Amino acid sequence: MRKGLMILAVLLFVFTVLQFWKPKEIQYSSPAKNLTNVPSEVNTILRNSCFDCHSNSVNLAWFDKITPANFIVDSHIKDGRKALNFSNWDTLDKQKQSAVMFYSFNKILLGEMPLLSYTALHPSAKLDSRSITVLKNYVKTLAARKTNPEVSSVSISKADAVHHPDKKITDYKKVKPSLNKISYIPDFRSWKAISTTDRFDNGSMRIIYGNKTAVKAIAEHQTNPWPDGAIFAKTAWKQKTEADGSVSPGEFIQVEFMIKDSKKYESSKGWGWARWKGKDLKPYGDSVSFDQECISCHSPVKNNDYVFTSPLHLDINKFNIYSKNQ
Ligand code: HEC
Ligand code: HEC
Repeated sequence: MRKGLMILAVLLFVFTVLQFWKPKEIQYSSPAKNLTNVPSEVNTILRNSCFDCHSNSVNLAWFDKITPANFIVDSHIKDGRKALNFSNWDTLDKQKQSAVMFYSFNKILLGEMPLLSYTALHPSAKLDSRSITVLKNYVKTLAARKTNPEVSSVSISKADAVHHPDKKITDYKKVKPSLNKISYIPDFRSWKAISTTDRFDNGSMRIIYGNKTAVKAIAEHQTNPWPDGAIFAKTAWKQKTEADGSVSPGEFIQVEFMIKDSKKYESSKGWGWARWKGKDLKPYGDSVSFDQECISCHSPVKNNDYVFTSPLHLDINKFNIYSKNQ
């Protein structure tokens, strides 16, 4: 009995001493502002479930501050902020904000976020099905996507008719290569349209095409990483609103490519990036490193091999792990 008490006393002593050993203080409790350009409901949900690890305002429970729990909490916060910090929201342009929302929602659907180890102890951070629906409806307004069979063939053929930016160009070899030495690929119009996104960024309509290798990879679920030889083309037109309120493609803006070759393009994340602008297909960029801009904006999806459009994203309406669980 006395021995038991001794052990308990020693443990208590060790525990108490341990409390002097704290992780280096990180910046807590500077309240994060509400997210701009986001409905207040969405803002509240993210604040409640994500801000503890993904912003400068941290709301710790008493048990989070006890050694050794505080070390775990600390590393979550540090890594979480590094990956995504909602306190820096206003430094992102609108399109990048949409990209972050889009990606975050996919993390939630996959059940990866918020971290399970966290919601186990902080049940109020769990997302209920109503919150999921709110987020889903919001994300849908950012990226109205349709999978291939549903891609409106009317809008594609209309777009294609206006497209042919190179109609006047009979010899494609005259189109200058991009500064990183990628040649224009006129064939993309015969590729499969794998997605349209007409509301991601107001005022433009986009179609994303995949070449045979990309489409085969989708069918075989070999999309992370994408196989060498996969190519995506993304075309964009100004959006024209017709008298009857329907939208149709107006002036051609640009076409962009991502070409997968893990060796050749090792220094640019395994992809060759190129963009040609306007009717005369002028290569985009002022220097060879123009692709840093592409990579930076695509980096929220780096764990998806830098590609936004993926079968998971495409199936955003059908893919719903949560409704199965609840
Ligand atoms: C307990 C802390 C914690 C909470 C709460 C949390 N996250 Fe995270 N999150 C992390 C950590 C740690 C990482 C970085 C490591 C990783 O990717 O797993 C991360 C990474 C991410 C990433 C980037 C992943 C990548 O591929 O780079 C996204 C997006 C994200 N979280 C979204 C969310 C959203 C949305 C919520 C709220 C619904 C949320 N997180 C809640 C800790 C958290
Ligand atoms: C401001 C952010 C941003 C920048 C900068 C950017 N992209 Fe993208 N890109 C996106 C988003 C978001 C998508 C997803 C499709 C959509 O909804 O428009 C995308 C999609 C693509 C796609 C279709 C494949 C995929 O990932 O879904 C290609 C190809 C592409 N971008 C090429 C480029 C190239 C080349 C550059 C640089 C010259 C570039 N992008 C710069 C945001 C960006």
